[in-house]
Amino acid sequence: MTEEAAVQPLVPFPQDRTCPYHPPAGYDPLRAARPLTRVRLYDDRAVWLVTGFSAARDLLGDPRLSANQDNEAFPSPTAGFKNRVRGRRLSLLGMDDPEHKALRRTVIPTFTAKRISALRPRIQEITDRLVEDIIAQGPPAELVSAFALPVSSQVMCLMLGVPYDDHEFFEEQSRRLLAGPTVEDTQRAGEQLDAYLGALIERKQREPGDGLLDELIHEPYARGDIRRDELTALAALLVVAGHETTTNMISLGAFTLIEHPERLAELRADPDLMPAAVEELLRFLSVAEGGMRVATQDIEYAGRTIRADDGVMMSTSLINRDPALHGTPDELDWHREDRHHLAFGFGIHQCLGQNLARAEIEIALRTLFDRLPGLKLAAPVSKIPFKPGTTLQGMIQLPVRW
Ligand code: HEM
Repeated sequence: MTEEAAVQPLVPFPQDRTCPYHPPAGYDPLRAARPLTRVRLYDDRAVWLVTGFSAARDLLGDPRLSANQDNEAFPSPTAGFKNRVRGRRLSLLGMDDPEHKALRRTVIPTFTAKRISALRPRIQEITDRLVEDIIAQGPPAELVSAFALPVSSQVMCLMLGVPYDDHEFFEEQSRRLLAGPTVEDTQRAGEQLDAYLGALIERKQREPGDGLLDELIHEPYARGDIRRDELTALAALLVVAGHETTTNMISLGAFTLIEHPERLAELRADPDLMPAAVEELLRFLSVAEGGMRVATQDIEYAGRTIRADDGVMMSTSLINRDPALHGTPDELDWHREDRHHLAFGFGIHQCLGQNLARAEIEIALRTLFDRLPGLKLAAPVSKIPFKPGTTLQGMIQLPVRW
């Protein structure tokens, strides 16, 4: 046990949620310790946990906090994580400026609000087709595999130009990469994904198609602005980040709406509330919990000293429920005056796919509840499996009937 942990028992982080949409009950002592406190990781290492909204913005914007996961002092949420990422190129997510800025600049044009608006009719078509299949099959249905995952995967394929026929392969590698049973398994999944994307890039060099990957191959890569290994790592990041998080938001969002019939009725009565509802669900569900950084220099903040090599983690769920920002932060409310949240992070690593994610979540949830107005759970809540606290938050299965 570290010296600090021996003197004062620290709250363990991360913990499993007790309810799929609320922060774990075990974080209650941390709520009183905003904006910055110490927690204990699985290996007894003490790290800083950011729990306040302003502090999170200040620290995520501070260049003295690094995202470089090759740094030995980088914090790990699980035993497997450290070995899993070591030596693996994480692309943008593991880079600091100025390298990060140069690479991010090459992909920004694809993610503008205008480009995403142009994708909306295609996202609607994909969603309609999936809901029609669910209706044709009749109740019950399992909404993660029949809806949330295929919506997210098909949109990601469309955007990137990855063949959807290969979806079982890359969905499995992504799952293993994020939470494989052993470190070896996770590493192997990363290698398989890289090999697949390497072959796809070669094929696209010969036979150009549509999508972000083609644009990257025929523009920055052809110009020599990015290297081959950078291109493969970026493609892998986009494949994984592009469907895992959105799947979780759609499945957990559907579960949460079913569990809050009054809020759902409000949305039915006034569909213009939908964009506000998506922001509120992003805040409330905080699926990307536990962002990580390491300090490269001493930082004085809120009367505390974060020392060089200290690990710093973000509790997105507590940050997004900071009472300094939101009255009644534990309630789901479409009418908040202040809709700020950090579900997509902040600073140089702020989510690149956020406009796309918003469009997907909005279209998916609206279409699902419009077409299946009687949607309800097909199992008691206690029997519905959801993801553990060490991974992105979401449903493992969502059995429904109507
Ligand atoms: C609801 C869905 C999503 C959520 C909650 C989410 C959340 C996040 C968060 C919190 C970060 C920052 C991580 C950090 O600071 O360490 C991030 C970064 C990123 N996200 Fe998302 N994301 C979502 C959807 C997407 C989609 C659909 C894509 C791609 C199509 C995407 C691509 C990325 C990329 C490339 C980064 C790294 C950006 C950088 O380091 O510069 N995300 N995301």
